[in-house]
Amino acid sequence: MAKIALSQNPRSMALIGGVITFLLATQGSAEIDKGVGPFKEVKMTDSIDSKLAGAGKKAFTNKCSACHKIEERYVGPMLKGITKRRTPEWVMNMIINPSEMLEKNDAAKELLAEYMTPMTFQNVSEDDVRAIYEYLRLSDSPEAAAEKTGGPAAPAAKGTVKKESKKK
Ligand code: HEC
Repeated sequence: MAKIALSQNPRSMALIGGVITFLLATQGSAEIDKGVGPFKEVKMTDSIDSKLAGAGKKAFTNKCSACHKIEERYVGPMLKGITKRRTPEWVMNMIINPSEMLEKNDAAKELLAEYMTPMTFQNVSEDDVRAIYEYLRLSDSPEAAAEKTGGPAAPAAKGTVKKESKKK
């Protein structure tokens, strides 16, 4: 491209180098890494749909629990915190399109290098994947933490209980 002009001007070379480094760094960051697969842009609602999460939990138990636990590392990574570490699109593409993700996505490749077992497609539909994601969101929510520490009796859970009774 503009190689000759650039090499004659070290200052602009350095500047452009800096910009490129910055772009590469942000490209690779979890915020915008959406992975490869059918999920290009997924909008999440603010509140968690508990019915959908319930369906997701069932699908997770059937199709994922042989290799994953929410709270600890197993054959695959622990899934607690996944909705904070990655974009929804990345996670959903990983679930529905693992082999292409493991081949082409840097973050997925890093996981494979660490875990050595390739995650396989579990015959999930896009709806299943969305439900599973809702379950993962629920697992990462303050509500899930409140449930574990004993629900209504614990002072921290009060707000949660109120919110739930309002919904009904
Ligand atoms: C055969 C075992 C296996 C099954 C079944 C499996 N996974 Fe995985 N999963 C893995 C492994 C191993 C990894 C790490 C990447 C790799 O090595 O392929 C992984 C990675 C992931 C990741 C990325 C984790 C991270 O830290 O970024 C998510 C999300 C995930 N799996 C979700 C699921 C869901 C949801 C299901 C069920 C539909 C499922 N997996 C089924 C083995 C499995």
